[in-house]
Amino acid sequence: MERIRPVFLRIGQSLVTLTLLTLALPAAASSTYPQSALHPAGPVAKMQLGLFITSVWVAVFIFVVVASALTFAMIRFRSRPGDPEPKQIEGNAKLEVIWTIIPVILLLFIAIPTVTISFGLADTPEDGVHVHVVGYQWWWGFEYPEEGFVTANEMRVPVGVPVKLTMESADVIHSFWVPRLAGKVDVVPGRVNTMWFQADEPGLYYGQCAEYCGTSHANMRMRIQVVSQEEYDAWVQERQLAAVPAAVSTDSLVARGQEIFMTSACAACHNIDGTEAAGRVGPDLSDMGSRTSVAAGMLENTPENMAAWLRNPQQVKPGALMPNLNLSEDEISALVAYLNVLK
Ligand code: CUA
Repeated sequence: MERIRPVFLRIGQSLVTLTLLTLALPAAASSTYPQSALHPAGPVAKMQLGLFITSVWVAVFIFVVVASALTFAMIRFRSRPGDPEPKQIEGNAKLEVIWTIIPVILLLFIAIPTVTISFGLADTPEDGVHVHVVGYQWWWGFEYPEEGFVTANEMRVPVGVPVKLTMESADVIHSFWVPRLAGKVDVVPGRVNTMWFQADEPGLYYGQCAEYCGTSHANMRMRIQVVSQEEYDAWVQERQLAAVPAAVSTDSLVARGQEIFMTSACAACHNIDGTEAAGRVGPDLSDMGSRTSVAAGMLENTPENMAAWLRNPQQVKPGALMPNLNLSEDEISALVAYLNVLK
């Protein structure tokens, strides 16, 4: 009896730990964890979570049955001083059939919902918004082919409407993941992958690249702004109007910022609708002022953070492909003022 006590203690400790972990799961799913797949915000994410929970319960069932049988056997058939050698058994056809059939049945419990949901997810809705996602080291391009414009790092979509994504990469393999809206899908060079999601509530949803893609993989973040249909339509209209060349700003700082942008290397890499800046190497900046973040979701979009980025991109995002243009503080504040009015 003395010998087996530590074993019981350990099993007891494991059970307590498991129970605490299980209890902690719903708490961890609260909105204070904006990238938790355990807190789904749309039908696709809910289907996928349902599948996960099913698998967890099957695993819990197996654990309980196996742990109980093991505990029972350890107590009931433990060796006692003076016991004779146990009966030696070799092969038992009946037992072997049983322990093959039971796992098959358990696997069916997981396989049937998995296949059903896989078909459900592949069944992309007919209507909805189409966004073409392009992964770059280390930011995201979001093209709206039907509406005819491009944005970056922050996708804006209407609430309660399916969003259909076609996705590819400009360089290496990335993975598109917004945990509260849908599971990850790889973004692969030379191949177009598809997925869809739908958000049930307006709000800001956070995501990030989920496939190691180089130095700033961890800084390749994104945000999905889910807004009402009216707000979305207004934004689309505004973005389409932005293609019309804008008059030079009456604000002298903004005008100077625009001039610096157009006459420096900025315009060679970035596009701003309605101006001569038509670069496609870096993120489209046509609506930079209305985005909530700078540097692909790394920093909140404040004048200070934008200035820090322009001052030294590599310091903010190691490996960033945007060169340090060695701008003066005056040039930086003019550029910040200009970028801030782009909406
Ligand atoms: Cu892109 Cu990791």
